[in-house]
Amino acid sequence: MLIEKQTELYSGKAKTVYMTNDPTRLILYFRDDTSAFDGRKIEQFTRKGEINNKFNAFIMEKLAAIGIPTHLERLLSAQESLVKRLKMFPIECVVRNIATGSLCRRLGVQEGMDLNPPVFEFFLKNDALHDPMINEYHIRTFHWAPIDQVEQMKEYTFRINDVLKQLFLEANLLLVDYKLEFGDFQGQLVLGDEFTLDGCRLWDVETRKKLDKDRFRQGLGGLIEAYEEVAQRLGASL
Ligand code: ATP
Ligand code: TYD
Repeated sequence: MLIEKQTELYSGKAKTVYMTNDPTRLILYFRDDTSAFDGRKIEQFTRKGEINNKFNAFIMEKLAAIGIPTHLERLLSAQESLVKRLKMFPIECVVRNIATGSLCRRLGVQEGMDLNPPVFEFFLKNDALHDPMINEYHIRTFHWAPIDQVEQMKEYTFRINDVLKQLFLEANLLLVDYKLEFGDFQGQLVLGDEFTLDGCRLWDVETRKKLDKDRFRQGLGGLIEAYEEVAQRLGASL
């Protein structure tokens, strides 16, 4: 079927989502916008949308190859991907291999500490409430996702950690932490949204130089250069 882009369904902080002539498929348009601090800091970076779109496809293909069901169908253009339309669960799955960010602020633990075993956290996707941390009891009580799919989300998220930690290590990069979002597609749990340098932290192994969105959050500069360096180290074509 020839896919046609139709009306805009939703515009978030970094992507715009379009309906298509196939009700089971959406188009994700990766914009050049970069946001932080609940959208209070926003800037455009030339090529950012294209880099994220292509990097996301590179990672999603690696995950599909190890048997993780993902929403990605195919790249459509520099800034667009065709995806399965999921019923997204309003929760975010975060895994942390090294302590930084909100974990240190919340618990007062030492920045840069190795977390063994890794920490798993759920957050509620709700900008107005600043994405509060939640646990499985909240998910159960408020029916944010069926509990068997919650178990599966944790399993997939940890399997993804094993594979991506290794993939990045081979490029001399530490996978510090990352966020995933899942949804339901015809009764099956499927990985949605994106895996890009906007939603994870990567540090150089030797220097611990930050090569992710923290460059923007912390005003360190060189965001696009960092994203390009990561892609180049991984052999991902942008
Ligand atoms: P955040 O940055 O906190 O993820 P946002 O809404 O600002 O929130 P964007 O990435 O700009 O994020 O918007 C993309 C939206 O599309 C998100 O709400 C995401 O959950 C949703 N989404 C991603 N993949 C799919 C999919 N396959 N089917 C349906 N919705 C999806
Ligand atoms: P975290 O340390 O909780 O966030 P911050 O320090 O920005 O307050 O984030 C952990 C990782 O998950 C980090 O790589 C960013 C990612 N993440 C998102 O991309 N979006 C989110 O809404 C959350 C909660 C985390």
